[in-house]
Amino acid sequence: MSEYPAWRVSGLTAISEGESVKSDHKLLYVPGPIEVNEDVRQVCARPMIGHRTNDFRKLYASIKPGLKKLLYTENAVMVSTSSGSGLMEAAMRNLVRERVLNCVNGAFSQKWYDIAIACGKSAEKLEVEAGKAIKPDMLDAKLSGGGFDAVCVTHNETSTGVMNDLLELSGVMKKYPDVMFLVDSISSMAGAKIEVDRFGIDMCIGSSQKAFGLPPGISFASVSERALKKAEGIKGRGSYFDLVDFKKSYDKDETPSTPAVSFMYGLDYQLKKFLAEGLDARWDRHKRLARTTHAWVKKMGFQLFAEPGYESVTVSCVVDAPGADLKKMQEMMGEKGFAVDKGYTKLNEKLVAAGKKPTFRIPHMGDMTDEELSELLSAFEEVFGNL
Ligand SMILES: Cc1ncc(COP(=O)(O)O)c(C=O)c1O
Repeated sequence: MSEYPAWRVSGLTAISEGESVKSDHKLLYVPGPIEVNEDVRQVCARPMIGHRTNDFRKLYASIKPGLKKLLYTENAVMVSTSSGSGLMEAAMRNLVRERVLNCVNGAFSQKWYDIAIACGKSAEKLEVEAGKAIKPDMLDAKLSGGGFDAVCVTHNETSTGVMNDLLELSGVMKKYPDVMFLVDSISSMAGAKIEVDRFGIDMCIGSSQKAFGLPPGISFASVSERALKKAEGIKGRGSYFDLVDFKKSYDKDETPSTPAVSFMYGLDYQLKKFLAEGLDARWDRHKRLARTTHAWVKKMGFQLFAEPGYESVTVSCVVDAPGADLKKMQEMMGEKGFAVDKGYTKLNEKLVAAGKKPTFRIPHMGDMTDEELSELLSAFEEVFGNL
């Protein structure tokens, strides 16, 4: 049990900001789902409306321009009632005829490869060591052999804190105009500037529970016109994640099946907040939070796991340089009221087996303020000092 400002923990009870209450809720600082602020939770709790009504159409119509602005695109940006993995599968089923190149540099990019195989596609990996980024020359070398109809890139490898450089990679993709450019930006969308049209991304996927600062349950994808054209000619698109159906409904401000209306209220609210903050200010805040975390890592004598120059702006993966007990660290942070990560298990198992130090991750995304990050880092500092 610990003390928090009431507005961060109260459910539907309106308690004025500044008051304190006892609660066993721990502030959620894992790299998604992240802490959802009280104002957002209140919006999500609005009374329900039917999804075949003008009220719903008005809601979706209000969301659409915000999503397009966020992604600097004229493409349709559609909402799916699923977590991001659903849309990762949609990308495979709708946009890959036969052969796909999966760029793999960690657990989530490996997951997209596994989805490709599960969907019966002929998938090949371009794989680099965990902690490293996918470089344009490597992609070019693979694509120059021909035969791929799509490339999958995980923009932000949440397991390692590596952010691939989409601008760099898009330069290569432009040499291969027949190859679809599919991007998982699940843990970077709304936290990093992603210029979908400039980069020529055919499908760009995000999830609500990361930098959108929303509860888990919905995900988003921009889909290019040429991708939708291609999908029309692909058999086995399935039903729930048929992008052609998605688009038909989207054009009428509807969804093919019953959407998670509650989270769409939250999405509409958050997008308006993002635009009020200003997108450039939002990207700058995320960069600043990342810089603060990097400086703290250095001050503590720790290291970042990511290859220099490719550090994520939404999550830092930190090498446990002193070899502290990370399970104990997590418990002690819990006693202070913070639910934190003790590292991505599969990655840490591999690192430890290779005689290397394990890692843990510090998220810095969504609605997080400089003050909240300082509070979190001070708690880490105290805990590591007592381990
Ligand atoms: C980079 C990345 N890709 C994919 C996923 C899977 O997304 P979801 O949990 O929304 O299905 C995650 C989740 O953490 C992720 O971080």
